[in-house]
Amino acid sequence: MLISAAAPFLLGLLYSSAAFPKPGTERINERPIIGILTQENTDETLKPFGKAYIPASYVKYLESAGCRVAPIRLTLPESEYEKLFYSINGILFPGGAVDLQKSNFAKAAKIFYRLALQVFHIGDYFPVWGTCLGLQLLTVLTAGENLLSDALAENVSLPLNLTDDAASSRMFSDFPPDLLKAMSQEKLTANFHHYGIGSQVFKANAKLREFYSVLSTNTDSLGKEYVSTIEGKVYPMYAVQWHPEVNRFEWEKDLAYPHSRNAVHLASFMADFFVNEARKSTHSFSSPEEEEMALIYHHHPMYVGNFSSYEQVYFF
Ligand SMILES: *[C@@H]1O[C@H](CO)[C@@H](O)[C@H](O)[C@H]1NC(C)=O
Ligand SMILES: *[C@@H]1O[C@H](CO)[C@@H](O)[C@H](O)[C@H]1NC(C)=O
Ligand SMILES: *[C@@H]1O[C@H](CO)[C@@H](O)[C@H](O)[C@H]1NC(C)=O
Repeated sequence: MLISAAAPFLLGLLYSSAAFPKPGTERINERPIIGILTQENTDETLKPFGKAYIPASYVKYLESAGCRVAPIRLTLPESEYEKLFYSINGILFPGGAVDLQKSNFAKAAKIFYRLALQVFHIGDYFPVWGTCLGLQLLTVLTAGENLLSDALAENVSLPLNLTDDAASSRMFSDFPPDLLKAMSQEKLTANFHHYGIGSQVFKANAKLREFYSVLSTNTDSLGKEYVSTIEGKVYPMYAVQWHPEVNRFEWEKDLAYPHSRNAVHLASFMADFFVNEARKSTHSFSSPEEEEMALIYHHHPMYVGNFSSYEQVYFF
């Protein structure tokens, strides 16, 4: 009797905003560490060097905004991922070309995604970012099914078609008005994808529609509209179908990488936003030694600029 009477009260306490500060508004962590999930190496030219990789541009992109990076290996036991989740302050799922349900990349991402949702309601803030395949993966995790279709935008730079929700978004809230204007008029985003989430498909799916706001759309090479930037309405989950990391850190002449002053500003503001989200997370490693060992500084990027479209890549 007592227990059943007390339980609803306890639950109420757990979930009421009076008992806990709103997630992300408490202490600020000025030494954030962001995990980058390593990607399975499916690139023929890069295969000889490692089973998994992270292009160095993703690392520089995050570091440039004031954080440290921890590479997250694939195929760790679930308990290791859980331990890492409570040690790092956010995670980035990079681009690539792997199965969005069966790959090790997708399986590891699912653990972080699930934990980030789970702990949010007890005041624990853990931001999640998806780039390109990372965006596609987040939509699969949220919808519980793969809703991708052809959305061809290979090696093209494009302006963003900003939606009405962009103006009230968290992601763009600190962007100067002249930058927002440039984003919608100039070709500031790099695109390298064959698939995407069509705008109509997105709107028709209640799980996606209720979970994310669409901040921008683009039109693919065949005239079909797809979502290009999304942000969680409640949860700190963010994703772009385009590649903000290339504007400042990839230089292959033969690819449509935007390097204009506004393109560089856009990339800086994007990185700045996500790292600031990670400052709202107070997760930490259990010891300074463990923290040190987890950081990317132990690894050396390899120069691959003379035979691949990247300049430098970390192999694992
Ligand atoms: C931008 O999106 C709106 C709303 O979907 C659409 O009507 C318009 O044609 C799009 N513009 C471009 C340039 O794609
Ligand atoms: C990529 O696009 C640029 C700019 O349009 C073009 O000059 C280049 O040839 C393209 N590269 C490839 C590999 O298609
Ligand atoms: C690329 O440069 C490295 C030196 O950094 C060299 O060892 C390698 O042979 C070069 N590869 C090609 C394909 O030119």
